[in-house]
Amino acid sequence: MNGNGSFSPELISRLEGAERVGVFTGAGMSAESGVPTFRGEDGIWKKFKPEELANFDAFMRNPQLVWEWYNHRKHLIAGIEPNAGHYALAGMESRHRYFSIATQNIDNLHRKAGSRTIHELHGNIGRNYCTGCGAYYTDAQLALLGNVPKCSACRGLIRPDVVWFGEMLPVDEWDAAVRAAERADVYFSIGTSSVVYPAASLPVLAKSAGAYVVEMNIERTDFSRHADEVMIGKSGELLPRLLEQYPRGTDIPVGQPPYTL
Ligand code: OAD
Repeated sequence: MNGNGSFSPELISRLEGAERVGVFTGAGMSAESGVPTFRGEDGIWKKFKPEELANFDAFMRNPQLVWEWYNHRKHLIAGIEPNAGHYALAGMESRHRYFSIATQNIDNLHRKAGSRTIHELHGNIGRNYCTGCGAYYTDAQLALLGNVPKCSACRGLIRPDVVWFGEMLPVDEWDAAVRAAERADVYFSIGTSSVVYPAASLPVLAKSAGAYVVEMNIERTDFSRHADEVMIGKSGELLPRLLEQYPRGTDIPVGQPPYTL
């Protein structure tokens, strides 16, 4: 973006011809909704230890502590709304034949904003499942099961459906995200420090497969040197401005079913 708030002609022209657009998001995407990020000065991992809270062994050792933490996060996330950046991405979806978001966020805000094709790489805090038999539980069901909820069928411990350190990403979500990155004409990496793998490999993959790759962040990251363009700023401000300058005539007719890559 230049000094007068316009995006580069290169980006606008790439978007005009882009049939496939992929987006990769991280905690910075939700920062303006009031969800704290993980790293940086006020980051969650500055105050709490991931090895005590976001780790399967820690959960088995002290499920009550881990549940207190996730109940706190569930409560925080239940009270927040998507920001202008989430809504702008939802608006961009109808401008391309194939558009998908691979998110590291567990907060459900992309869906709440109206995006349809979302690959949740690190799970969703609104879901829970039994570590014994895999049965799913809603938060409402969980509320009836006490501080350390156990499965009514097999008595296994119930855990939040989020990916913890050392765990594999959900295979279907990951495969779809890789396909989207490999096939994208334009790819955006938004609000992520690009340090947690394998997720952080997606924009690199997109770039090596030939996409025009744009990073949006309030500061440069490890990924910046690989990007074709780096836009420094808040995603809640940059994305609505980009949507305003979007090339005309790219709308997919209303009523089309949601597309997947
Ligand atoms: P981080 O906290 O590591 O990074 C957030 C990024 O967002 C930083 O690069 C900030 O500069 C940037 N940022 C902050 N506010 C922004 C704004 N308004 N607009 C644009 N950018 C902004 O979060 P992630 O990269 O998402 O994993 O972290 C990746 C994973 O590490 C998370 O999914 C989580 C965590 O441990 C698991 O829990 C498995």
